[in-house]
Amino acid sequence: MAATGGSGGSKARGTFGKMGFILAAAGSAVGLGNLWKFPYMAHRNGGGAFVLVYLVAVLLLGLPIMMAEITVGRSTASNPVRAFRRLGGKWWSLVGWLGIGTGFIILSYYSVVAGWTIEYVGKCLAWSAQGFTKADAAKVGSDFMAFLARGDKQVLYHGIFMALTAGVIIFGVKKGIEAVTKVLMPALFLILLLLVAVAATTSSFLPALERLFLPGKIGARGILEAVGQAFFSLSLGMGAMLTYGSYMSRKESVPRSAAMVCGLDTLVALMASVIMFTIIMGVPPDQRGKFGASSVILFTTLPEMLYNLPLGRILAPSFYLLVGFAALTSTISLLEVLVSWFIDDLGWKRSFATVTVGLATFAMGVPSALSFGSNEFLTSRFAPLAPKASGFFDTFDYLAANFLLPIGGLLTAIFVGWYLSSAFTKKEVEEGHGPFRLHLLWKTLLRFVCPGAIAWILYSVVFQGVKFN
Ligand code: PFF
Repeated sequence: MAATGGSGGSKARGTFGKMGFILAAAGSAVGLGNLWKFPYMAHRNGGGAFVLVYLVAVLLLGLPIMMAEITVGRSTASNPVRAFRRLGGKWWSLVGWLGIGTGFIILSYYSVVAGWTIEYVGKCLAWSAQGFTKADAAKVGSDFMAFLARGDKQVLYHGIFMALTAGVIIFGVKKGIEAVTKVLMPALFLILLLLVAVAATTSSFLPALERLFLPGKIGARGILEAVGQAFFSLSLGMGAMLTYGSYMSRKESVPRSAAMVCGLDTLVALMASVIMFTIIMGVPPDQRGKFGASSVILFTTLPEMLYNLPLGRILAPSFYLLVGFAALTSTISLLEVLVSWFIDDLGWKRSFATVTVGLATFAMGVPSALSFGSNEFLTSRFAPLAPKASGFFDTFDYLAANFLLPIGGLLTAIFVGWYLSSAFTKKEVEEGHGPFRLHLLWKTLLRFVCPGAIAWILYSVVFQGVKFN
């Protein structure tokens, strides 16, 4: 089928209202990647140097690919499989399939980690009510490990999180996704602002800013991590932005929306880092090493640090609520990618598609939920990618973040850069925007810079054993 450039069927599929796309897409982008991964990666890779490389990666790689995904989605008003098929034919639709498969994998394990926030909001509420004692502080780490190994709790929270996600998706694009992100995103931003404001009153605030914004030393590995992180954090490479783009009005500007989303995502990552770095700089230097060495810091060292801040009793539960909100708006986008295919291509009703796909993803996530100690085989013996990853969760996270997302991004860049004609992409990107003077620059980035940089990442992962998570 030829490219339509129209909005075939968009009425039935739903369309975002004003600001709806930006909030939903920012909701997808802002997630565990910003609040959990970015700060510890920045901390262990020379602070300011990492931030600088990350900003360059967002501008040269993230922004052009995000525009590419949105353009493909909006011009076809279709899910990723159908969108690539309409514009490129049968073979290109494989890129859409890759996206759907990647979404299924990421959602299954992302929801497990997201579920931890439920436990920690509850824990913090109890600590805030009873007071966070020295004895509590002493066993935060062991408590967390014990919690990880509780298979029943892991599965339960994963199930609750999937149910929450499905509960939003079932109401559709406008009444579900848009309505919820319109409330959650400003709430998230307010909580972040509150935390930054409190951080600013402490004496470790300035040292934290210095560490975060004055360049330190960064190696090749750090540069690669920054590039991979830009991808994951902006939700690129699996059709999430493409799917949201398919609900975007043709009256809105693609370049401006993409720039807003990239800007908001980066702002949140930096704000989260300011908060984390302030907390880290507040502890004696010999204890700081723990941070950045471990990805579980968010649930082990952090509670104690939060309770040391002024207003800790309010801040601690608010913080985990914030992380939960951020994760929820991301899982919503992941599930929507899958559901949109069942609705568009199989003609299923939204409610039926949501429940079915939600249950399937829940089932797929159960082995991940059990791979944190409760089941020995899933925790350590399941290791097809050893020594790079071991355990069910780790293996799938490794596969998705290091291979599937970069490959999806690479193919999207080639598709929009080389396969789609400039006349078509120019017309599409100018609709709702007006004359787009940077079209040639955009195409050049998609043709050369993005494929080159992503090929370098893939080469490094395969041949040099770099791991992004
Ligand atoms: N961008 C999300 C984060 O930073 O946590 C993760 C993510 C969501 C990746 C949605 C991919 C996606 F499609």
